[in-house]
Amino acid sequence: MSLLIINIQGLLLGTHSKTPLIGDKLKTAEILDNAFLLIVHGRIADWGPMSACPERADEIIDAAGGFVLPAFCDSHTHLVYATPREQEFVYRIQGLSYQEIAEKGGGIINSARRLQEAHEDQLLEDAHRRLLEVIAQGTGAIEIKSGYGLTVEAELKMLRVIRRLKEISPIPIKATFLGAHAMPMEFRENREGYLTLITEEMLPRIAAEGLADYIDVFCEKGFYSVEETDRVLEAGSKYGLIPKIHTNQFNCMGGIEIAVKHSALSVDHLEVLNETEIACLRNSGTIATLLPTAPFFLNDEHFPPARQLVESGVAIALASDYNPGTSPSGNMPFVISLACIKLRLLPEEAINAATINGAFAMGLEDELGSIEKGKKANLIITKPMPSLAYIPYNFGGSIVERRIVF
Ligand code: NIG
Ligand code: FE
Repeated sequence: MSLLIINIQGLLLGTHSKTPLIGDKLKTAEILDNAFLLIVHGRIADWGPMSACPERADEIIDAAGGFVLPAFCDSHTHLVYATPREQEFVYRIQGLSYQEIAEKGGGIINSARRLQEAHEDQLLEDAHRRLLEVIAQGTGAIEIKSGYGLTVEAELKMLRVIRRLKEISPIPIKATFLGAHAMPMEFRENREGYLTLITEEMLPRIAAEGLADYIDVFCEKGFYSVEETDRVLEAGSKYGLIPKIHTNQFNCMGGIEIAVKHSALSVDHLEVLNETEIACLRNSGTIATLLPTAPFFLNDEHFPPARQLVESGVAIALASDYNPGTSPSGNMPFVISLACIKLRLLPEEAINAATINGAFAMGLEDELGSIEKGKKANLIITKPMPSLAYIPYNFGGSIVERRIVF
């Protein structure tokens, strides 16, 4: 089966790299003008100028002057949840903070209560609908976390939903176990009890069923301490689970150091970050995953110091953090716009951070994230546009004309 895309105004070519793009390389964007792209059996087979375009293929798509880009690799989401939390959005407009809402049993605890009551089939149906929605917005691979279960059964239920979603999904999915997302109310006076539940009951069962690819902890004041994070990551490593952790969303408290100590694949959020932590990330192999829609939606003035990270040679990825509390959207073109506007990334840097570096942040760099021969042809065809910078410039618009996923 061959598929030929013709009349591509600009084809964004990737250069093979064994490591995420860092520093000056992050703005690499080789564009072939007036090009064709040939896909064979779902893999990128060839490209070139239209003057050398093959004459035949099983199917031909006319890009009609649009650009062709790799689909977005969204390496951090909480796509499986029971109900939206728009009431908390209203509370915040009225002046309550995210942490105040969490302390009152809202926030993650509220989502956990709802998810514990929800039926697995319903969770699957809702998550599947959201998945198709983000694919339509240009996502071509996605990571999904548990963490709204917070009981053995409900965490397993969430991870089984993710597994079933993997089976029916048109795009690759990676699953992350986030049992240490918030402390359940009934364990607030017995934190030890819940940590033991994670390490002695949840982890062995998750490993036995092969339900998770990664392990996550929300390392933050009011959630999990550095020592607790260390312990959960240590327990996860016994089952071969690589960490991707939430840290530095509101406070610098040592989460970065502990993540690097455990060779985390990524540290995510980093709205607050000090010089020592940036130095610790440099050459660590851990990717800084930035989630600009979270502080935007919380109306928090702190956005991650992306420029400093890039200029220090730290690898950055961009992801949506799609979740009902802090980012009820998985719209990656909007994430890219915000990254340009609030993080001062150049359009090319933001696009690379949302594609190839996102693929690295979910272990999919050999398969996805860039237009290279042999890679899976999960791609976006844009509407006709003058240049790559038009994507973030056109914020809130719908620049994706067509998606191709295999
Ligand atoms: O990445 N910060 C922790 N977890 C999510 C929010 C979860 C929620 O509020 O439901 C995040 O922002
Ligand atoms: Fe998150």
